[in-house]
Amino acid sequence: MALESSRSAFERARRSVGGGVGSGLRAAMPPHPLFVREARGAYVWDLDGDRYVDYVMAWGPLVLGHGDPRVLSAVSEVATKMQVVGTGHPLEYLAAEAVLEAVPHGERLLWSNTGTEAVQVALRLARAATGRRRVLKFAKSYHGWHDTVYAGMSEDDCDRPATPGGAGQSASVLDDLVVARFNDVQLAERLLSEAVERDIAAVLVDPVMSNAGVEAPTPLFLSTLRTLCDRHGVVLVFDEVIAGFRIARGGAAEKYGVLPDLSVFGKAMAGGFTQSAVVGRADLIDQVTSGVVHAGTFNANPIALAAVTATMRVLADPAVYERLERTSSEFEALVGAVLGSSPDFGSFNRVGSLLQYVPAGGATGLHGTSGLWAVILEGMLRQGFLFMPSGKVFLSTAHTTADVEATAEALDRLLRTL
Ligand SMILES: Cc1ncc(COP(=O)(O)O)c(C=O)c1O
Repeated sequence: MALESSRSAFERARRSVGGGVGSGLRAAMPPHPLFVREARGAYVWDLDGDRYVDYVMAWGPLVLGHGDPRVLSAVSEVATKMQVVGTGHPLEYLAAEAVLEAVPHGERLLWSNTGTEAVQVALRLARAATGRRRVLKFAKSYHGWHDTVYAGMSEDDCDRPATPGGAGQSASVLDDLVVARFNDVQLAERLLSEAVERDIAAVLVDPVMSNAGVEAPTPLFLSTLRTLCDRHGVVLVFDEVIAGFRIARGGAAEKYGVLPDLSVFGKAMAGGFTQSAVVGRADLIDQVTSGVVHAGTFNANPIALAAVTATMRVLADPAVYERLERTSSEFEALVGAVLGSSPDFGSFNRVGSLLQYVPAGGATGLHGTSGLWAVILEGMLRQGFLFMPSGKVFLSTAHTTADVEATAEALDRLLRTL
């Protein structure tokens, strides 16, 4: 893989697009971001025409791979009839019914566009319902880039004033956060037992730490959060923007049997189109009819909701999740075995079709993962395998056993040269 055209495209893009790529985190790709001219199934083709097995899957949405024909035909049919209408249309409730049917605690939903937006809506609903201000989140977990939640990104922030995730963020909203540690039941118990004094409205948790190592919750963790939230009048919000419809059709609630008050979904729900939702208790959601503002010009646009309806129809087939589980466990076994040949090579954590590389003695990170990963990332790219800077690995129903076997062989070749 020469990567030549991507290098010159990146240089050109940097002259017109801030940072050269549409989302800052994508720039962390060594030697530079890949520029793609076509994407189909499990593959992308770069500007030179070289093909890559894609484990980025657009950072999560593409559970069905690129360009699933069932999603595309639903979108094309609607796109010729209407694009965005600024009033009601049947896909609003047809898509909502399909989502609510899949989510165990799905009584009602609100449509938004991105995960970042939907998280803000969920927190607003929790504050309105409780009359409290603060949100308990877990160190390192990512809930979008807004000032209100992109903070407390380090374990050092636990039970201390949260620090902002980046420059230019407002210090005045940091006091709205209380930071706990994922899977630390005792700390959660201590902080939530003072929920009234601490003014805690919501617990916001990514149930599988999908941006910080992919960590499964311990058997007691989520159920203890549920009990504590009930006891202390706190709204439990699952951020399932990545986990939703990926680790199970009904997301974390189905997989772990703990029902939150609200869940935030995005990514996988719309098969590659822009859509997110806050799903959960009707009494919380219905506050939008009594003073809580939820707005957005492009909310519930017909094109995205055609994609949601088609995607949810495909995801209703249990064979989808059987296939995802089979290919993902093959990846874990075969590619993981190559890493297992030396204690220095690191390993993978996995929950369903979501994996993350964990370096030996190193740390995973939103912007990039330390240790050997940068070497693996570039070495695999040059052999035709596209991974993410953070070391996360997304599989889809389009990936095959042959793709996974080829990945393991390429990684083995690479590691032997070190
Ligand atoms: C767990 C989680 N929550 C929220 C978000 C924000 O979603 P979006 O990028 O659509 O704004 C993300 C994005 O990656 C996420 O992974």
